[in-house]
Amino acid sequence: MTRNITTESASAAAAVAADSTKPNGTTAAAPAPTWLGHEGAGAFDLRSDTMTTPTPAMLAAIQSATLLDDVMQEDTTTSSLEAHVAALTGKQAGLFALSGTMGNQLALRALLVQPPYSVLCDHRAHIVCYEAGGVSSLTGAMTVPLVPRNGRYLTLEDIKARVVLGEDHEGGGDVHSCPTRVISLENTLGGVVMPLAETRRIAQFTRQHGIKMHLDGARLWEVVAAGREGSLVDFGECFDTMTMCFSKGLGAPVGSILVGDTKVIRHARWTRKAIGGGVRQPGFITAAARVALDTTFGKGPNGEGGLLRKTHDTAKRVEKMWTDLGGVMAQPVETNMCWLDLGSMNTNGARVTELGREVGLKLMGNRIITHYQIGEEALSRLAQVFARIAQEKDHVRKSSVAAKSSEPYGDGTNGHQ
Ligand SMILES: Cc1ncc(COP(=O)(O)O)c(C=O)c1O
Repeated sequence: MTRNITTESASAAAAVAADSTKPNGTTAAAPAPTWLGHEGAGAFDLRSDTMTTPTPAMLAAIQSATLLDDVMQEDTTTSSLEAHVAALTGKQAGLFALSGTMGNQLALRALLVQPPYSVLCDHRAHIVCYEAGGVSSLTGAMTVPLVPRNGRYLTLEDIKARVVLGEDHEGGGDVHSCPTRVISLENTLGGVVMPLAETRRIAQFTRQHGIKMHLDGARLWEVVAAGREGSLVDFGECFDTMTMCFSKGLGAPVGSILVGDTKVIRHARWTRKAIGGGVRQPGFITAAARVALDTTFGKGPNGEGGLLRKTHDTAKRVEKMWTDLGGVMAQPVETNMCWLDLGSMNTNGARVTELGREVGLKLMGNRIITHYQIGEEALSRLAQVFARIAQEKDHVRKSSVAAKSSEPYGDGTNGHQ
């Protein structure tokens, strides 16, 4: 754990306590601070990288943020964040969005111009599975979810097998079909990196056929920080629009950003207003996002000096802890997400969550997601959970052998399946 945060946290907590005087002069019980960074609740929460707690540095930035009107485009804290991310990704403009969902939906709304239109994407894509049907309600587009043949990420061959070319292309224009106008990719998808080389092949194909490309890059930071692929600019060149989140691995309390060319962003700003996402004084949010970006990802386009790489090392340690005990991974760890094959250890998600609770860890079944606030203490507690699972597996094996010898249907102690 980062010890120097402790002192900062303590004085920040004291400041809140001192400030908790009610208007009538009586003293209210100080609210429990929830923004203690490495010392906060996020340090023991492995359910998601959205579970980080804001740090004292973010609080300090909030205190000195401009609080001007961003619907009128006057708030420099917000506009400088937008310009900075646009520059990092090699795009003309950026637009702050309250969530990743909002960023994706604004992008698709801007890229889809005239029906009939359809969007090709991975069948597990966030835009299909977890955005409340926004693509259909906000654009009316048909989504065509594809299962990648390699089981990991979409390839150009997957896309060519299902793409529907429009009227301007040879063999296109069959009025029974719905032309593909956007290909929407996601990187990482469940922690799995989609290689830059494949992304470039797809981008080249779409350009030849007038199809737009969107990236749900909620965790593109992780891809770049992993260091095996390209920079933010390299990915930016492949897409018309990209959404990236500040409130996942980067650790900001709120916010995402959409980047693209000036025309697309102008349109997205309009739609953002229409759906109630134009925030009057968002400086206190965007100031925290800027700290998260600069400190967790780093200041350059390759995540130089950031903290994400260490997060990936932590995930690798989790993978090793599990496999050393004989567990199998459902997927190899590539960034900050670990997917355990619980069947390999004869256990189930509810049991993992319960064992976590017993040692003060928040777990969610077979997914162990690391973030930069996870330190040694959380890992040693997780080791205890894994050890219990291994013990129980042995116990189940022994008791079921014993049960078999005496009772035809076992003794009911067949573990937590
Ligand atoms: C890949 C991906 N895209 C988009 C989102 C949406 O982000 P938000 O929860 O901020 O709407 C998420 C959220 O977890 C996500 O994992």
